[in-house]
Amino acid sequence: MAPFSRRGFLSAAMVGAASLGVAVGSGRTALAQAEDPRGLTLRGDAFLLDGKPFRILSGAFHYFRTHPRDWRDRLTRMRAMGLNTVETYVAWNFHQPYEKKADFTGWRDVAAFIRTADEAGLKVIVRPGPYICAEWDFGGLPAWLLKDKDAPLRRSDPAFERAVDAWFAELLPRLVDLQATRGGPVIALQVENEYGSYGDDHAYLEHLRDTMRAQGIDSLLFCSNGATQEALKAGSLPDLLSTVNFAGDPTGPFAELRAFQPDKPLFCTEFWDGWFDHWGEPHHTSDPARTAADVEKMLAAGASVNLYMAVGGTNFGWYAGANLTGSAYQPTVTSYDYDSPISESGELTEKFHAVREVLAKYATVPDTPLPATPPRMPAQRIAVRESVPLMASLDTLSTPLRRTAPVHMEALGQSYGLIHYRTRVRGPQGTRRLRVTGLGDRALVFGDGKRIGTFDRNQPEHAVDVTVTGGSTTLDLLVDPTGRINFGQGLNDPKGISGKVLLDEEEPHDWEIRRLTLDDLSPLKFTGDHTPTGPAFHRARVHVDTPADGFLAFPGWDKGMVWLNGFALGRYWSLGPQTTLYAPSHLWRRGSNELVVLEMERTGDAIEVRSAPDLG
Ligand code: GLA
Repeated sequence: MAPFSRRGFLSAAMVGAASLGVAVGSGRTALAQAEDPRGLTLRGDAFLLDGKPFRILSGAFHYFRTHPRDWRDRLTRMRAMGLNTVETYVAWNFHQPYEKKADFTGWRDVAAFIRTADEAGLKVIVRPGPYICAEWDFGGLPAWLLKDKDAPLRRSDPAFERAVDAWFAELLPRLVDLQATRGGPVIALQVENEYGSYGDDHAYLEHLRDTMRAQGIDSLLFCSNGATQEALKAGSLPDLLSTVNFAGDPTGPFAELRAFQPDKPLFCTEFWDGWFDHWGEPHHTSDPARTAADVEKMLAAGASVNLYMAVGGTNFGWYAGANLTGSAYQPTVTSYDYDSPISESGELTEKFHAVREVLAKYATVPDTPLPATPPRMPAQRIAVRESVPLMASLDTLSTPLRRTAPVHMEALGQSYGLIHYRTRVRGPQGTRRLRVTGLGDRALVFGDGKRIGTFDRNQPEHAVDVTVTGGSTTLDLLVDPTGRINFGQGLNDPKGISGKVLLDEEEPHDWEIRRLTLDDLSPLKFTGDHTPTGPAFHRARVHVDTPADGFLAFPGWDKGMVWLNGFALGRYWSLGPQTTLYAPSHLWRRGSNELVVLEMERTGDAIEVRSAPDLG
């Protein structure tokens, strides 16, 4: 299948135009023994590791997208596929969602992930960003950078660089001793991410490079970019290795890389072996045989490769990102299975076997037995018996702030969740037109507690008529964000209301704003009443004999967020394409489990636990 653009599939013609046919040099030319060889170095168009020829056969696996108790399992599967390296981004906002001390414990212990990879027999490539794209909220940048919604990002702006420097001062020292130059598994690190698709501020790239060096990173550094001269030029530094990212036939992209950088190894740092999905768009898959054939072409050319992705993952919680194509906002789904060789739930797919066969021709693939699919739960239907409306729980969940006008959530120190705005308008005024500008991303609109409309970011206008009778009318806007843009020039993507609320041409000027971070749902007062419509929380108990992987489906429900034993699994949405949410075994308990669903629109009869995923 043709490679994909963020809009969807690229046409075959566009792909073909890039295939100019080029003689790519072999990585296995005669290599003299280097002096003092430590870590990954370059010799002509080949890599050396500790002085010996080394071909990078890597796969992407994002530690922040897989439960930490599954890290070893997935890394073992990668090694069994024949890969010798794992590549991961570091998602800044996963460690520092609020402007407080960064967290490196438990799931956030990136050093532990790297050591586990080492134990599984893999070298490691780290891409610390600070921007990572990756279909992850705000491209990994922390939401608090948007306190000023127009704050300059990804350029040599003093405030942005100060924030990055402070973050790197926390992160990088944890990686220093893990470098191959010091006997550890980390062989290379990336500077920024496809920077040539965003800007050409080389002073910024130099600043990142120098900061990394000053923090003790003495490994090979590289810049990866799209395979065009423009992107390579804008996004590379002359003293660092340039690499390219692409899907499909490598001939054209590698010709571009050779033209830009004739004398260094060929390295595809993201070979897109699958693709991600947006809500309401078709599910992407790619042909395993085609993928394997393209990998083989790269290996036959002597190139190194990083499969993006090798292991599927999940955008748990509020972390799914979004794209902006023209003015169309496209939120990314919860699954990041990516049609990867190793699926979101650890299954070895047909693509795994096809690629493994190719790798076996060029490298020694371990002949240990292949791991089985991790155990799965038997199917069951769970009745929902308790509910509580969200609008009746506002004071339980938050303390209102007062402002003269609505402001976006980041300006109030909120990074994730929903945000609620309320004003009272004195009457009588007759019928007025309520309008909202700067909406991220959906608003449920209420007049005197009655639902009077839904505004969606993709509508050309957000307006509804409101009749303000005698006394006063209460207006409520409950805003439900669906992920910050992670790619391109729309990166400054504040949530909530960042524009204005107008009644005809007037601005109501007394607002109560509630930050619904929904971090702790324990104060909610559920009752036995089953609220049929809504925004409402619903609670169900699930009995489990033996915890195993489960896949939750919501037949008849529309849109919301789910918590399993207090852990936010992510968004579901009847738009599809995905209909099940992955609930890894480690989140379940033996005995009674609590499921809480926040449904924005309509309540289904039951929740299903299924024993297989359905991604569309
Ligand atoms: C680019 C980015 C990655 C990811 C892929 C698409 O190459 O560098 O982070 O967004 O596109 O999945």
